[in-house]
Amino acid sequence: MIDVQPWLDDGQQAMSAVFAHALPPLLRTATLQPAGRRPLPGRQAPIPPLLRASITETRRHGRRLAAFAAALGRHINLSPADLGVLRVGSLLHDIGKNSLPPQVLFKRGRLSAEEFAAVKYHPIIGDLLCARVPALQSVRPIVRHHHERLDGTGYPDGLRGDRIPLLAQIVGVVDLYDALVCTRPYKPAYDSAHAFELLRREVELGWRRADLVAALIDVVESGEAGWLLVATAI
Ligand SMILES: [Fe+2]
Repeated sequence: MIDVQPWLDDGQQAMSAVFAHALPPLLRTATLQPAGRRPLPGRQAPIPPLLRASITETRRHGRRLAAFAAALGRHINLSPADLGVLRVGSLLHDIGKNSLPPQVLFKRGRLSAEEFAAVKYHPIIGDLLCARVPALQSVRPIVRHHHERLDGTGYPDGLRGDRIPLLAQIVGVVDLYDALVCTRPYKPAYDSAHAFELLRREVELGWRRADLVAALIDVVESGEAGWLLVATAI
């Protein structure tokens, strides 16, 4: 059995619900299962090591983002209701990535065009998973739209401007900052000054809202994000 308890925070009923519903289909769709070999009824198939690593990293990344996004949300005076949606949406925003082959998710070096096309499906898969859980309807816009850009060049739907839900834009900005200051298979960890420079560049390109990037920089520089400044490796 999968130990889902570490995913859960106190009182996070929604998290419990999503893993009851989402993990079985994730495991069934995992491409690492040998074709034609199905687990016997009532028995749990073993989790391949790379898939376990994928689930673990999605959890760690989600928890980092939830704390960071909540700090940013408080900074811009979001309502308590929106903060709750933001926190759960941040935890789950990349849940669709667990359906990707880990050799793509953890690939060192640049993805091929074909691999990147597969990665771009993860918001849709995550949205479909959350759609199965009544308690998670409010987080679906975050899960689906956290990779959209203001000029319509993002994915999966190419939404523009204010058609991109605010909470999804917040998660998108925090997600990018986290990617910049953490070590990734394809890049070293950047310091916060370099990350700010790249975020401001995205504002100039018309991809991000200037006020959200400014708020993120305020949160980091004021220390509200605290431990999140420590870069971590995956
Ligand atoms: Fe994502």
